[in-house]
Amino acid sequence: MPSATSSPAVHRFDAGTIAPLRTRATSNERARALGAFRSVRAETERRAAPLGAEDQMVQSMPDASPTKWHRAHTTWFFEQFLLVPHLPGYRVFDDEFAYLFNSYYVAAGPRHARPQRGLVTRPDAARVGEYRVYVDAAVERLISTADDAQLGKVLRILEIGGHHEQQHQELLLTDVLHAFAQNPTAPAYDVDWRPPNCRQTPHGFAEVPDGIQAIGFSGEGYSFDNEGPAHRVFLEPARIARALVTNAQWLDFIADGGYATPSLWLSDGWAALAAEGWSAPGYWRKRNGAWWSLTLAGLKPVELSAPVTHVSYYEADAFARWAGKDLPSEAEWEVAAFANLLDGAFGVVWQWTRSAYAPYPGYRPAPGALGEYNGKFMVNQMVLRGSSHATPEGHSRPSYRNFFYPSARWQFSGVRLADHPG
Ligand SMILES: [Fe+2]
Repeated sequence: MPSATSSPAVHRFDAGTIAPLRTRATSNERARALGAFRSVRAETERRAAPLGAEDQMVQSMPDASPTKWHRAHTTWFFEQFLLVPHLPGYRVFDDEFAYLFNSYYVAAGPRHARPQRGLVTRPDAARVGEYRVYVDAAVERLISTADDAQLGKVLRILEIGGHHEQQHQELLLTDVLHAFAQNPTAPAYDVDWRPPNCRQTPHGFAEVPDGIQAIGFSGEGYSFDNEGPAHRVFLEPARIARALVTNAQWLDFIADGGYATPSLWLSDGWAALAAEGWSAPGYWRKRNGAWWSLTLAGLKPVELSAPVTHVSYYEADAFARWAGKDLPSEAEWEVAAFANLLDGAFGVVWQWTRSAYAPYPGYRPAPGALGEYNGKFMVNQMVLRGSSHATPEGHSRPSYRNFFYPSARWQFSGVRLADHPG
């Protein structure tokens, strides 16, 4: 846990060249790894289950991917980075799949253009299902047969693959919601889906511990490489909102001309507003004078007390300026989360910060293809903290750094304000 006095422990993720972490693995470790692997793979299929073959095919914009592609790509990840190098005699399921389902790993070979993923009708969803079963069986074989010297590395890559698949589980839902939003009939992904219960205590701001603080991942458990090394930062005095910005507050912003007042907006934000025609959060629609929102449960009235969702960084920034406040920096957010100052920090909406996505001091991507996981994206994007109601169980932590382009708003992204005395 970060504190003002502890020196930051160095935690470095080293996926490509990790020496075996354990020289002697127990059968318990194998059983635990097997259980975790089965659980994450089943969760992907559970999320895909309400979607028919046609649903799984569609790509509604270049940033979104078809469900079928998510199911296949997460499988290719295990095949490419775990089975091919570590399971003796493994034969890939289909020689064409590496080209179709590699996302952005240049070192892993050529790949299909991202904006054209929705044009790949073959393999069909059933064939992708067979691919998953084939790879699952091979991974289970590897877990049970890897010798003790190999097992540490195998388990580490297995763990990365599991966390990678969890990231795609959230994208699967955000991407299908975007696809359904293009459909005039406003389909429901799951009619029983409900927004999270978010306890919104009376509005107010809490003092963020200031001075020298430590942020970044340290200690036990999993983290992505971009969460480290843990390091010290200096925080000026700041206050952070205990609660998330609500739809009611956003309606005030709209009513006060928030989307029609250029002085509230960054130049790039105003250009994005004009180009996209923004006048409300993503998926909001006005019917008979009332606002409705397309959710995973279909079209629902906008709930006033619920946290605003599907706003871009540009909108978050404009709202903060309108409110006479700021967005928190990611360091302020993390220190405040550790100090237990934030309601709805996790499991509701991701929260935009004012921090550009950049490497922490001392960060070095691992050598090899897996080193491309995070490091090469560290420019032109903004950090979001927390997690959303679509984030899988066990995939949230205070040091987690999500990142998106400032115009992106198809994620479950919301706003928490901060205040910096001028
Ligand atoms: Fe991926």
